Amino acid sequence: MKFIDLNTQYRKIEVNIKKRIHNVLEHGMYVNGPEVKSCEEKLADFVGVDHCVLLASGTDAIFLPLLALGIGPGDEVIVPAFSFYATSEVVNLAGATPVFCDIDPHNYLMDISKIQSLITKKTKAIMPVSLYGQCSDIDQLKKFGLPIIEDGAQSFGATYKNKMSCALSSFGGTSFFPAKPLGAYGDAGALFTNNADHALAIRELKEHGSQKRYHHTRIGINGRCDSIQAAVIEEKLQIFPGEIKQRQLIASRYYEALEGVKIMRVDEHNTCVYAQFTIEVDNREKFREFMSEKSIPTAVHYPSPLNKQPVYEKESFFNLDFENAQKASERVVSLPMHPYLEVSDQKKVIEAVLQYHKI
Ligand SMILES: Cc1ncc(COP(=O)(O)O)c(C=O)c1O
Repeated sequence: MKFIDLNTQYRKIEVNIKKRIHNVLEHGMYVNGPEVKSCEEKLADFVGVDHCVLLASGTDAIFLPLLALGIGPGDEVIVPAFSFYATSEVVNLAGATPVFCDIDPHNYLMDISKIQSLITKKTKAIMPVSLYGQCSDIDQLKKFGLPIIEDGAQSFGATYKNKMSCALSSFGGTSFFPAKPLGAYGDAGALFTNNADHALAIRELKEHGSQKRYHHTRIGINGRCDSIQAAVIEEKLQIFPGEIKQRQLIASRYYEALEGVKIMRVDEHNTCVYAQFTIEVDNREKFREFMSEKSIPTAVHYPSPLNKQPVYEKESFFNLDFENAQKASERVVSLPMHPYLEVSDQKKVIEAVLQYHKI
């Protein structure tokens, strides 16, 4: 049994994928080829926004908005204390300071009730993370009147009050890392916005701060998504809506069967794409060994609050204790979740989890 099965997906779309990659090899425009524009148009349409800029990674999709907003040394950005490291890393890369906010222990998203006390004159943006595949309550976040950069790396295709993740705020960034709900065959990401100036800024920033060749008006990076990845994403987008339905069906089976187990809560105004299906257990290492003996793979997202990463050892926030982030980092574990998970395999997972809990 696989934690995420990308091979089965590939077999399903193999003929078309090969054709798409072959096209790129034939025309030879490996960078900024026609696939990039065409994929951007399809993605913008899917999300329901005016602009999509394909990028080299999800990290770039949350880093470049900080540069576009002119956020740098002396500025602060509020981020959740529990996420993948890129969330706070990009704030440091911009030269600004991440200000950590504890999470809600039920949905593992930033605890919005704790934000007001973190806002200072230096606060320049809030970066909510749509962890495990569902969005934060953006309407509540908007009340703080600060730019919002959604880290939607795990929630592409999810909805909040019937609007798509990445279409909810000033900037919506996502990742197409292969294991993400919509994955490329390498690194890639995208930024979504309805603001033409923001889109233009991101376009320049990902091209070494230039609008035309050898004329540089900003400090940027090489953040381009290459043509082969764009072709792959565009092809996979066609089967993506069906895959989301499958993920949701599999999740609903887990919820039904695992009554009594603490599972991530999906808020009423949300639909979730279950980038991860995450539960809590006592004695996590014992649980993972128990599952592993039955050949059931599990994973931990994530084993430490962000502010406790070794890189931050010398920072004053390293010693802050975020009760819910700490508890989650010790207890969460993700179960196999992908659109091609067989019913019989899911049954095995469910039986093993119930056996561990002796339910
Ligand atoms: C919450 C979150 N933010 C940012 C990223 C970074 O995306 P990428 O790996 O595409 O750079 C990831 C990817 O793992 C993520 O899960």
